Amino acid sequence: MLRRLHHEQPESFEFTPANHEWALAQMTKYPVGRQASAIIPLLFRAQEQEGWLSRPAIEYVADMLEMPYMRALEVATFYFMFHLAPVGSVAHIQICGTTSCMICGSEDLMKVCKEKIAPNPHELSADGTLSWEEVECLGACANAPMAQIGRDYYEDLSEESMSTLIDQLKAGERPAPGSRIGRFSSEPKTGPNACVDVPGDKEAHNATTSIALQYGTYIKKIDGTEVPLTAPWQATGQIGPVGLMGTQPRPKTAAQQAAARAPRPAQGVPASTHGITEQDAEADSKGKPTEESKPL
Ligand code: FES
Repeated sequence: MLRRLHHEQPESFEFTPANHEWALAQMTKYPVGRQASAIIPLLFRAQEQEGWLSRPAIEYVADMLEMPYMRALEVATFYFMFHLAPVGSVAHIQICGTTSCMICGSEDLMKVCKEKIAPNPHELSADGTLSWEEVECLGACANAPMAQIGRDYYEDLSEESMSTLIDQLKAGERPAPGSRIGRFSSEPKTGPNACVDVPGDKEAHNATTSIALQYGTYIKKIDGTEVPLTAPWQATGQIGPVGLMGTQPRPKTAAQQAAARAPRPAQGVPASTHGITEQDAEADSKGKPTEESKPL
């Protein structure tokens, strides 16, 4: 989607004294000469001050950060979080239209926006209070379909809940953000029970335990060598609980640890065919530790 600056621009832009002071403080967070790294928070503050990001505002921030206008324009036109045209005075609704949200009904949400706000994205509603647009993935795919308003996410939306949300905004309310079907976060819709409700005769385990059960104490790498499967509990003195990964005592001396972590060549495969580089072979022959055989 093309993102262009608005055809009507204000004459000038200036931070309020409070925002200017805040911006100067942000710039001190970065090493001398790297103040351009503060571009995103400063542009966002400029947008919060004016409601949208005008060309004078982008250039004002670029001047503060002593960076070329083009670099600041590149940032402002790349991210959907920056509104390049005036938006509704009460709310600008950003509907995610990427894969998960599209599959789960984002087009229905946009249909409601067209009916209740304005027929086209970036158009203001008749009273100027609301606007909407379609944006790319906002990172809440597990709670699709979703929309962002300001800093808030509204998730698990439907045609009905979207309609209610717009009605609430029109009535001057600020609806609580979050899931519209009662989810606390991105847990399964049936509740946070994926690790306990396991069908059939399977036992419930987390991912690390499942890997340990499937593959044992060692994992074979793509080059054919095997490395120990480590887990947080190994630091306590045992390779793993009884019956899970064996009960071998943890190697204590540096030499034992190095020996335990050294890659084991795949049985019956000559060294020249399982990915050991010439440098590795030379290091081994001289007794130097390889990356994987360094002491813990
Ligand atoms: S696809 Fe909509 S949030 Fe990622």
